[in-house]
Amino acid sequence: MGDAPDVLIVGGGVIGCALAYDLAASGLDVTVLEQERVGAGVSYGAGGMLAPQIEFAQGGPGLEWGMRSLTLYQEWDEAIRQRIGFGLDLDLSGIVRVTNTPNAWGPSDPFIRRHTQMGYVVKRLDASTIREWAPQIHPAITSGIWVVGGQVDAYRATRMMAQAAVSHNALIRSGVMVTGIEDGCVMTTAGRLCAQMVIVATGAWLPHLVDVPLKPVKGQRLLVALPQLLARVPIFGDNIYVVPKASGQYFLGATTEPEAGYDQNPTLEALMDLGTAAVGLFPELRHASVIEPWAGLRPVLPGELPLIARVPRYERVLAVGGHYRHGFLLAPITARIVRDWMVSNAPLPPDFSYQRFETA
Ligand code: GLY
Repeated sequence: MGDAPDVLIVGGGVIGCALAYDLAASGLDVTVLEQERVGAGVSYGAGGMLAPQIEFAQGGPGLEWGMRSLTLYQEWDEAIRQRIGFGLDLDLSGIVRVTNTPNAWGPSDPFIRRHTQMGYVVKRLDASTIREWAPQIHPAITSGIWVVGGQVDAYRATRMMAQAAVSHNALIRSGVMVTGIEDGCVMTTAGRLCAQMVIVATGAWLPHLVDVPLKPVKGQRLLVALPQLLARVPIFGDNIYVVPKASGQYFLGATTEPEAGYDQNPTLEALMDLGTAAVGLFPELRHASVIEPWAGLRPVLPGELPLIARVPRYERVLAVGGHYRHGFLLAPITARIVRDWMVSNAPLPPDFSYQRFETA
C-alpha cells in the first residue's frame, strides 16, 4: 500500500476522534479527514452528559455498553492527561433526575427496582438531599434520584482526544471533504486516498456516503452564564436538563426535532421553550446572560443504537455512526470495539450490526 495509512477515518467529531485516539494508541497508522475542523459539528454544541441510567432507563444493550464506556472514560482521562498534559474535563460526580410529581420514586418504583436488580446504584433524594446537589432548584421540587454518571466538556474532550491521537502519530487533515467511497478508498477534494480500512464516522451525514437508514434529529440548546451556583451535577427535569459547566456557564437542553431535516438554525420558539422550562427548574436562571444559542443534528437509526459494522458489499469500509443522543457517552466504547476488532480480531457486537435492521 506504499504510504497509505492503516486506517482512514472520515469525520473529526467525537466518534472520529475517539477512534483516532484508540487506534493510534494501539500502534495503527491513522489519518482523519475532517471537512471543516475537529469537533466543529454536533460535538461542538453537545452537553457532554454521561447519563446511561437516564438515557437507557429501560435497560438493554445501550445501558450495558454505556456503563462500560464510563469506565473507559476514567482510563482515557488519566491516560490522555499523562500523555499530553490535559485530560477530558471529566466529572463523574453523578446525575440527578428530579420531577415536579410529588412523592415520585416511592419504595415500589419500577425504575429503582429494575436498576437495583441489574446491580446499578440509584439513591433516592428528598427535598434536603436534592439541594445538596442543586442548591437553587425550584422550592416545589421535592422528589429526585441520584444515579451514576457525569459529564465531559464536549468540545474540549473532542479536541483532547484528537490531540492525544496526534501524540500517537495520527494525522488530522482538516478542510478535506470526502465526496465518495470505494472499497478501501475515498474520493476527496484532495484526491483519491486509500487505506487498509476506511471508517466512515460522519454523524448525521453518514447516508451521504454509505447505505444506511439514518435520519438527522435536530437538537437546540442555550448556553447561559450566571454567577450563582445552581447545581453541582447535571440535573434532568421532566422536560429540560441543565448542565453546570466548569466555566460557570449552564447548558440548557435540548429540543428533539425529527421533522426538521438538515436544518441547523436555532429558532426563537424553541429557545423560548427551553428558557421557560429551565427557569421553571431554576428560577434564578431568569437573570442569566445568554451566551450562545445553538442547533445541531443528532444521527439516529432504527432502534436508536449505533451502527458499528462493515458496509455491505465492501471488505474495507466500516460504518460507525447513528449514536443519536449518546455520542459522548458511547464514544470510548465505540472506539474500543473497533480497536479490538482491528487489532485483536474480536467480533463486532451484533447489537450494532446491519442485520438488526432486517429483523426490526
Ligand atoms: N445527550 C442528550 C441530548 O442529545 O439531548
